[in-house]
Amino acid sequence: MGLSSLPGPFLARFTNVWRLWHMYRSRYASMLVEVHDRYGDYVLLGPNLVSTRDPEVIEALYGLRSETTVSDMFKVMQSYVDGVRIPTLMTSLKRDEHDSLRKPIARAYAMTSVLSYENIIDSHIRRLVDQLNERFVTTNRVCDMSDWLQYYAFDVVCDLTMSKNMGFVEHGHDVEDMIAQLDREWDYRAYTGVMPFLDKAIRKNKLAFLWKGKGNPFFLRARQLLDERLENNTNSERQHDILDEFLEASEKHPNVVTKHAIVGLVGQNLLAGSDTTSAVLKSVIYYVLKDPSITERLRNEIDDASLQYPVEFSKAQGLPYLSACIEEGLRMHPVAAVLVERVLPQSGLTLPNGKKLSAGTVVGMSPWTMRGNKAVFGEDASTFNPDRWLPQLNETTEEYNLRIRTMRKSGLAFSYGPRSCIGQHIAKMEIWKLIPTIFGHFELELANPEVPWDVQERFFAKQSGIKVFIRPRKHE
Ligand code: HEM
Repeated sequence: MGLSSLPGPFLARFTNVWRLWHMYRSRYASMLVEVHDRYGDYVLLGPNLVSTRDPEVIEALYGLRSETTVSDMFKVMQSYVDGVRIPTLMTSLKRDEHDSLRKPIARAYAMTSVLSYENIIDSHIRRLVDQLNERFVTTNRVCDMSDWLQYYAFDVVCDLTMSKNMGFVEHGHDVEDMIAQLDREWDYRAYTGVMPFLDKAIRKNKLAFLWKGKGNPFFLRARQLLDERLENNTNSERQHDILDEFLEASEKHPNVVTKHAIVGLVGQNLLAGSDTTSAVLKSVIYYVLKDPSITERLRNEIDDASLQYPVEFSKAQGLPYLSACIEEGLRMHPVAAVLVERVLPQSGLTLPNGKKLSAGTVVGMSPWTMRGNKAVFGEDASTFNPDRWLPQLNETTEEYNLRIRTMRKSGLAFSYGPRSCIGQHIAKMEIWKLIPTIFGHFELELANPEVPWDVQERFFAKQSGIKVFIRPRKHE
């Protein structure tokens, strides 16, 4: 089937500049939702790019047996340090290259390992609670939760990865320019991901490579930390961290988990672990506070559970309404604003209507368009309704489990298949522990309930301006 027979915005048929413009406007996810609402499930969004919101093709695009590869959008994320390409999972373009790196280090992110990191997360939750108390509860000043949640997520991911507390929470501001650098890096990836030739002209040109000693700041930092660890690995006081796991994997698989690969793996945690997790934390807090009846129900559940703070992960997971609020927060604000692009293999892609997209076509889905699917999420898909994650009247356990599985898969928040988010257990632990601690400990109230948060939709949909008053809970 010729791509030209697909509907879509007129300009997008000829040029990617059209998408670049929407990236520049920081309304990329909203643009995707609008074009699908206008043109249907399959939209031609660039000269060789199809966007789809059809859950029927998730398996074919992302599943274990899918033969798709990742698009040039991932190539622009490839980074160099001193002229050497740094391997990471996300930028391993070929499936075998990706699998061979992911398998040996998967244990570092498995739930069993993540459980062993719980006490580290506890220490960061305590620090955050102390700072919120000191700076906002006792002073009655307005707190911008969006900043503090990013400080928390960034501190946690740095500490878990390489036993380094950057101290964002303790300082209450950006440290060593890392958040600003992170924003710049993801903006670069957002723009060049839409028009990959820009990356060749800007970062991957000969002059840039001659710029010895320079490189992506996150991988430079990772290399410095690795060097320090290799020089001084005798500190018995230090906690077991993800870097230790990488070093162990390197001993068993020295040809794959090389020093450069470890630099890449550490760097990608720093790049991928804070904007993402904090966006979900922000979403849950914002949407729960917007509806007083939801706030009250969540608080009652937390109070009835008589929890100790910081809340244990296993206890938090046993609270159904809390889990429903978090799942719904993730659905309503699924972080990745771009299409998760794949290139079709030799066999192409047969659409449910029998037509076929040919090999080499880039096809992508965005969790932002998936979240609105009424057949999957119900008629009220556009509203924050945690109840959709709870068993419905007359629903059997089997039906309920199937419905939840379908909603999670179709939501695509962590993507799907062998390239799905490897850090999701870490993110879940951070979220499931912090939300009940915050709501159990404090009385939060939006300072300007009628003023919506601001969302910049480029690579991620990053929220700011969640201004709240924080008071102690009355029962304490
Ligand atoms: C709620 C928080 C998070 C969300 C919504 C999220 C989302 C995603 C998505 C959508 C992808 C898949 C891209 C694709 O299919 O090509 C991904 C991949 C990845 N994420 Fe996350 N992420 C989160 C937290 C984290 C954290 C905390 C870490 C690290 C500690 C992390 C590390 C990674 C890595 C390394 C990959 C690449 C996996 C691979 O290619 O094998 N993420 N994430």
